[in-house]
Amino acid sequence: MKFYLTTPIYYVNDTPHIGHAYTTIAADVLARYKRSKGFDVFFLTGTDEHGQKVWKAAEAQGKDPQLFVDQIVDRFLSAWDKLSIRYDDFLRTTDRRHKKTVQMIFHRLLGQDDIYKGEYQGMYCVPCETFWTEAELREDMEGRKLCPDCGRPTDLLKEETYYFRLSKYQDRILKHIEANPDFIQPSSRRNEIIQFIKQGLRDLSITRTAFPWGVPVPDDPKHVVYVWFDALINYISALGYLSDDDAQFKKFWPADVHLMGKEIVRFHAVIWPGILLALGLDLPKKVFGHGWWTVEGQKMSKSRGNMVDPIALADEYGVDAVRYFILREVPFGIDGDFSMHAFISRFNADLANDLGNLLSRTLTMVEKYFNSEIPARIASPARSAASAAGWQSDAGGPKPKSEINDDLSKDLVALINETPKSFDDAMDNLAFSDALGAIFKLISQANFYIEKEAPWALAKAGETDKLAAVLYNLCEVLRIVAILVSPTMPQTAQKMWDQLNFALPLEKSAPDPFGMEIAGTKIKKGNSLFPRLNKTDGGSNKK
Ligand code: MSP
Repeated sequence: MKFYLTTPIYYVNDTPHIGHAYTTIAADVLARYKRSKGFDVFFLTGTDEHGQKVWKAAEAQGKDPQLFVDQIVDRFLSAWDKLSIRYDDFLRTTDRRHKKTVQMIFHRLLGQDDIYKGEYQGMYCVPCETFWTEAELREDMEGRKLCPDCGRPTDLLKEETYYFRLSKYQDRILKHIEANPDFIQPSSRRNEIIQFIKQGLRDLSITRTAFPWGVPVPDDPKHVVYVWFDALINYISALGYLSDDDAQFKKFWPADVHLMGKEIVRFHAVIWPGILLALGLDLPKKVFGHGWWTVEGQKMSKSRGNMVDPIALADEYGVDAVRYFILREVPFGIDGDFSMHAFISRFNADLANDLGNLLSRTLTMVEKYFNSEIPARIASPARSAASAAGWQSDAGGPKPKSEINDDLSKDLVALINETPKSFDDAMDNLAFSDALGAIFKLISQANFYIEKEAPWALAKAGETDKLAAVLYNLCEVLRIVAILVSPTMPQTAQKMWDQLNFALPLEKSAPDPFGMEIAGTKIKKGNSLFPRLNKTDGGSNKK
């Protein structure tokens, strides 16, 4: 069983922000989840390093573009390191292996007439070195077409370019989308793309001559390959497509899912299938476009100065809190808003109060009442009056004496057994927020169970059997919770596991049904997982 998933490759000159982190964390959580289910996973991410924007940024600093990208790529590598991203490969489009594949694909498609040389004609802004479409241009009082960027008049310019025959594949792309409802998700994105294709696809200009920073066209190096044509190919060049060593390609292609933000679904659901069809390759199984984050209700932008830095957030509040928040707060697929108030509220409510307290209360009681040893469901042969009465009043014949059968415990056990299934269903639909919601429902139920069963009162009344059963049940909740939160909060899950001190390593543990033989484990209560924050919004926690 294989699973191949990808993130977009990010423009290398950007500083990683919460939007980049969103796609990458989602991919990492999915990759960890699939690995835990026994899949052979290949998780690819990387950087998009060619194109006019990068070239201009390098020029502005007076640097050779290759040197420039080499110096800044580390921002992404270290960001992913910091955010506990475990990718299998990091592809840079300036890697030799990638450039070679792009050139071989270009050569092949030219040979089979899917690429042809032509002329691009359009309104060009010389200072900005950009062609603008009619719709983008502004017009002044004299009817001159002005550059929408700098406001200067544009010139009618003709440029030699190579085209990719996208129009030829229009019908096949459309048919594929219509026949495979899961191909583009969520379905709102699918409808947009169908409408777009129905308006008619034009051949795509895929080379540029105005600047030199890109993969040179074989045998015609004054052209460089258009950055999107170059970038999309990363999904197969990383696997060694057309190289001497294409074992990974044979094993992992087609991708199981390409994850990305909604604004680039069009490239992945129209142009990319066109290229793949021309190459005679299978199409990816799914293209998923998630929503966009605004910040405190505003669009995030450099000029507004409101970019959310996931690293600073992780430094202050912990990596796992960031990973949890961005996947829990907003259903994957729709837009959401980031605010420090929302972040801190969730931190305190879900992580500190619900999860953190459940662990510390439970372990404190195991420590106090059972000398740090997880009790068996029945603690001692001397049965207390209360549990004996419970057993005797059951008309269904003798039952194992170890069961406690009050409704609350039954409900809790039922939920322990249902939760992994609800979690799996949600994860398989990339509904990360629902998947986490299912775990936190169990956590809340367990906290409610503590309040109702009041173990301290059981201890006072000497009801040791019942006390043992209640604490055993709670440790079973913690076992399941640690396993299920581990793809999203790997460090937290490991801390929980260390405190529970189970013999089996966490990564080897599946969420087996209630009733595992954990009794006798000597727990090692440690620090609280998420100390409550004494504030309601930004600013330092230190008083
Ligand atoms: N280089 C192209 C992708 C090529 S893939 C073959 C690119 N790069 S990017 O650096 O602009 O990163 C885009 C990714 O970041 C997209 O998935 C995009 O949706 C995501 N986000 C950028 N800003 C975002 C938000 N404010 N919110 C959520 N995601 C956003 O496009």
